[in-house]
Amino acid sequence: MSEQPTVYVTRQIPDAGLELLEESCELHVWDGKLPPSKDHIIERLAELEADGLLCLLSDDIDGEVMDASPNLDVVSTFSVGYDHVNIDDAEERGIAVGHTPGVLSETTADFAWALLMTTARRTVEGQEYVLDGEWETWGPKLLTGPDVHGATLGVIGLGNIGAAVARRAGGFGMEVLYADVGPNEEAEAELAAAGVDVTYVDQNELLDHSDFVTLHVPLFESTHHLISEAELRRMKEGAILINTSRGPIVDTDALDTALSEGWIERAGLDVTDPEPLPADHEITRHVPERLVVTPHIASASIGTRNKMATMAAENLLAGVAGEDLPNSALD
Ligand code: DGY
Repeated sequence: MSEQPTVYVTRQIPDAGLELLEESCELHVWDGKLPPSKDHIIERLAELEADGLLCLLSDDIDGEVMDASPNLDVVSTFSVGYDHVNIDDAEERGIAVGHTPGVLSETTADFAWALLMTTARRTVEGQEYVLDGEWETWGPKLLTGPDVHGATLGVIGLGNIGAAVARRAGGFGMEVLYADVGPNEEAEAELAAAGVDVTYVDQNELLDHSDFVTLHVPLFESTHHLISEAELRRMKEGAILINTSRGPIVDTDALDTALSEGWIERAGLDVTDPEPLPADHEITRHVPERLVVTPHIASASIGTRNKMATMAAENLLAGVAGEDLPNSALD
């Protein structure tokens, strides 16, 4: 029997993480481009009698998976979000759960802004226009969109990522409103010190007044379909919705109708429900005029993905050693 702990990793993550694991673990990595099925994860954990599992947000990890190996001490996810890991099941079994908060906040905020700028200033439409050979002359009314500078930004969820998005709004001279489960005085003070004043309002007030609404809440039962028909109808007619959090925060059918009927102007989605979004899903008919959609890549900078790999590996190593995880998802 191996002296080293045995760990199973459900995808090829950046080398920084795998190399760290290799130093002190018997390492097994799923090599497919697509995720292994749940049955396959169960099978591998059982045959390896694995001590640790490093998973991705595309894996569904519940008690059935956790029970597959009698030795499993830790589940470490290569993501900040852990809605795909059944936390109650882990707690019941005394299994530690790690995640990767903090390291991806600035990168994700950059991307929320990329989507905001793209949807406002219609860059994807512009590119299609050029490639379709439609660009014959400079046009006074060609592809006009709303100003970003001086507009009102509504941030739903002023955690690490929401605050990083809000901070960037300072450079655009925007008024920033935020809604959350309550005021976040610490974030408010940090933003004020960076020269950005943010105002706490209830969600309805935020929806009533914002030109751009950007979503930064985790997915819980309470945030599922947080933005649905009533909320979309409430937004300003010319408003733009940005989602880089989790797809099910937005009711896709309601958004489809909102875009068809012009309740809001446009949306930029990096996360979708369903996810992955099939190319022939009904909502894609709004691309690119009303919708810009990307494949859940908001944290995908090279540096950040390397940091996430290291952090996920460090959580796993602590878990198999029976130590407290540097970044635990459990209270
Ligand atoms: C996360 O980590 O939860 C993001 O959605 C992907 O980086």
